[in-house]
Amino acid sequence: MERRKFLKSVGLVTAAAYVGPKLMANDKGTTDNSGVEVASLPEFPALPYAYNALEPYIDARTMEIHYDKHHRAYFTNFVNAIKGTPLEGLAITDIFASMSKQTDAVRNNAGGFYNHTIFWNNLSPESKGPSPELSAAMTKTFGSLDKFKEAFSTAAKTRFGSGWAWLYLNSDKNLAVGSTPNQDNPLMDISPVKGAPLLTIDVWEHAYYLKYQNKRADYVDAFWNVVNWDEVNKRYLQALK
Ligand SMILES: [Fe+2]
Repeated sequence: MERRKFLKSVGLVTAAAYVGPKLMANDKGTTDNSGVEVASLPEFPALPYAYNALEPYIDARTMEIHYDKHHRAYFTNFVNAIKGTPLEGLAITDIFASMSKQTDAVRNNAGGFYNHTIFWNNLSPESKGPSPELSAAMTKTFGSLDKFKEAFSTAAKTRFGSGWAWLYLNSDKNLAVGSTPNQDNPLMDISPVKGAPLLTIDVWEHAYYLKYQNKRADYVDAFWNVVNWDEVNKRYLQALK
């Protein structure tokens, strides 16, 4: 698939800034340090900030390994899982909608690639706050912004093992909070929590262990200092349509 079509299929074509030459696949036909073959990949979406941009809440070493090793591996394995199959021509959201019919490799790597892409973009060193529209919706559903944060944090802290917590818009266009195991997300037909993702946090140990060790709760509490509310507001407006 040509690059632009591929990026459109994963919902990234409007985000030209996500793609940068420094993070494109190399041209040496070699593997990177993770052992993942990178020479034949389509472009890997760039991180929208420097590795140290979210210090001290998320440390640079964690960001580098998380993005350049973990996320890159999901991306590579996702591409390899769909290459030459009928899935190659589908939007990734359509793949999620049929996930009950797909292989574990597609499930884990499509989810891993997509979830991390949302995660990077819903973080920012400049954290403002929810828009008036989103604030009103949070008050309606949760009682207040603080009550929403409490519900989301509880979902993140109590997800057993590896997974993700989500703020999402359900089919009734109401806000909801939940969590998913492994690399599942609310767009998958197999997920018990279903809707349009608005905000997420990665609670796999690889997301926090270097800095926070076993203290996941401290990482979740720190997360609120670096939420990119502009992105969450934007996703909310898009999901309402
Ligand atoms: Fe992760």
